[in-house]
Amino acid sequence: MTTAAYLDPSLTTPERVADLLGRMTLQEKVGQMIQMHTYDGVPHLIDEMHVGSILHASPERLAEAHALNSRTRLAIPLLIGEDCIHGHSFFEGAEIYPTQLGMAASFDANLLERVARATAVEVAATGIHWTFSPVLCIARDLRWGRVSETFGEDPYLLGELGAAMVRGYQGDGLEDPTAILATSKHFAGYSETQGGRDASEADISRRKLRSWYLPAFERVAREGSATFMLGYQATDGVPITINTWLLNDVLRGEWGYTGTLITDWDNVGNLVREQRLFPDYAQASAAAVNAGNDMIMTTPAFFQGAQDAVAQGLLDEARIDEAVSRILTLKFDLGLFEDPRLPDVERQREVIASPAHRDLNLEVARRSLVLLENDGTLPLAAERPLRLAVVGPNADDPHTTLGDWAGASGQADWLMQGHPRDMITTVLDGVRAVAPAGSEVTYARGAEIITTGPDPKGAFFPDGQPRPHIAFPVEPDQAMIDEAVAAARGADAVVAVLGDRIELVGEGKSTATLELLGGQVALLDALVETDTPVVLVVLASKPHVLPPSAAKASAIIWAANPGMAGGRAIGELLLGAIEPSGRLPISWPRHVGQQPTFYNQIDAQHGYRYADLTQEPQWVFGDGLSYSSVEYGEVDLESASVAMDGTVRATVTVTNTGGRPVLETVQAYVRDDVTSATWADRELKAVTHVALEPGTSASVTVEVAASACSIVNATGERVVEPGEFTLLVGPSSRLADLHSAAFTITGEESA
Ligand code: NOJ
Repeated sequence: MTTAAYLDPSLTTPERVADLLGRMTLQEKVGQMIQMHTYDGVPHLIDEMHVGSILHASPERLAEAHALNSRTRLAIPLLIGEDCIHGHSFFEGAEIYPTQLGMAASFDANLLERVARATAVEVAATGIHWTFSPVLCIARDLRWGRVSETFGEDPYLLGELGAAMVRGYQGDGLEDPTAILATSKHFAGYSETQGGRDASEADISRRKLRSWYLPAFERVAREGSATFMLGYQATDGVPITINTWLLNDVLRGEWGYTGTLITDWDNVGNLVREQRLFPDYAQASAAAVNAGNDMIMTTPAFFQGAQDAVAQGLLDEARIDEAVSRILTLKFDLGLFEDPRLPDVERQREVIASPAHRDLNLEVARRSLVLLENDGTLPLAAERPLRLAVVGPNADDPHTTLGDWAGASGQADWLMQGHPRDMITTVLDGVRAVAPAGSEVTYARGAEIITTGPDPKGAFFPDGQPRPHIAFPVEPDQAMIDEAVAAARGADAVVAVLGDRIELVGEGKSTATLELLGGQVALLDALVETDTPVVLVVLASKPHVLPPSAAKASAIIWAANPGMAGGRAIGELLLGAIEPSGRLPISWPRHVGQQPTFYNQIDAQHGYRYADLTQEPQWVFGDGLSYSSVEYGEVDLESASVAMDGTVRATVTVTNTGGRPVLETVQAYVRDDVTSATWADRELKAVTHVALEPGTSASVTVEVAASACSIVNATGERVVEPGEFTLLVGPSSRLADLHSAAFTITGEESA
């Protein structure tokens, strides 16, 4: 018997795809386009639906799926997907890094590329081929539950960090056995929520999309992100699932993207159910495929719907062939027909949470911490035994230390208890580990945040995803407060670790408020009235509005869910074993009513305040202190005139004028002085890190391509308009922090 051509590795991928496609029935082709969760078991997915891919599979169900699949007629290998978005989230004992928002505080693309690479090495060893990361949604309204999954609010930073993670995941190319497929998501505009409500209509014009929301996606498309995932949103009445302008004209057309498109969870069902654009699954399935979707996530009704659509003449089988070809191409390019990349226990022992990955995790956790205020209390004296009180509901909460998409956050039904406790250092663990010998570290919880209870609407959303529990803030408890105050009295410092909880974070878990919930404000109010210096650690998935008593804290640190090594990193920071270096990738509001507060908004005519409050955030994008002081010199341009194809080059002298080393994040913004359409006052265009010992200076070179000094004009084209510009360089986005120099771009307007 001769071997089928598609099994012959000496043939090209297109030849193998064509051969295999020719052997597949319509049912098998439609099944190949489906990705299903395994919550309801595996056999029916393989035997009846012929699925091409599964997600959310426990190690046992993964093994079962492979075994069943290998006995099918064509034995087309399965693509295994999972949300490994800050480490290998749902594999017990794998490394969990800070959330994307936490990592973004490093402003360091190279560091994130290393994290993605290390993640891919662990993920690949467990038989998973495809991660649904990075998230390129721009954070806007902080009430949205998914802010911690983003890189923050700046399009340039999103693009740089997203591209870095794509490179890291995909390694040396898909044939590399440690490479996994990256997914850039959620295409595009999902985060433009109404009032922070998840998965609502995204009210956003095409010009606005092109201005701020699309550039990062274009960046990763060109970087070779193997797959793109859609969001849930509809824009201008058009659900993304059938937005042919975005999917075809822009993504495939203008950007020449040849990768694979996957819908988000049950988007096709949503077309029938909530969005109500089609009366049945035949029509919805036809529309989704005709719009260019290749893989359909968790819409079981697509299986019959797409077949009916072909029978009814709504969908040309050739269009199904195109989608299936893309999916098969991925499988051939990964080499799955020769090696299905099954879980490799031996390899797992070598790489999962290896010493190198543990070190990297600690490194990125350190870099994720942002020091927002410090009256000199930090770092705490490390040369003598201390009496320290560590208090607050997040001081010893391992799950909130990890954040969303990590075991106990609820998406994996096989890891509900979360990762092994001894792999996670909470702040309490970290302080105990790092405090000088002979120190006394006491702990009091001090307050509860919330309790939760079932949503009366039911345990599941109509799309089959578990419906989150409802949160109920807990009243302050005087006895708990008294205990914390007693611990604080007479201590050298009290470390108050407040924030949110994983039950307040994630999909379908947007919050109406941004305040510290439950008994936390009363606890802080009481602590600042003691004579003990209060170090407030906001261990929270996103910036929160701080109460007036926070102004009496001696120091404030933001630790976005800092990952397994987070508590240790925080302990080191408090005790001065490391230097603070994180910067806010997102502005920090004073009041929930200020939303949104992102720095690159278009200026308003009537000033900068509400009648009852300033519009200025508490801390701006880019803010963050070190334990030293840093001074910036003037911006010295190499040339004040640059051609359209040239590069603006400048040097700035940065000096460490204090007594401790710094890792400074030099930020360069550009203002287009006169624009043909309204535009942001300034936009981040370059970031450089410089390490400076006390008393030393460095001349830092800033480079910005003239082509990056673009705007989107009123007709929606991205252009560089020649004329006057300003380069602004400094330690944050705050105008008062920036030194500037004027330059000109010469030549004809260029697109
Ligand atoms: C829905 C989420 O929106 C998406 O980000 C995630 O990748 C999928 N579920 C799979 O878990």
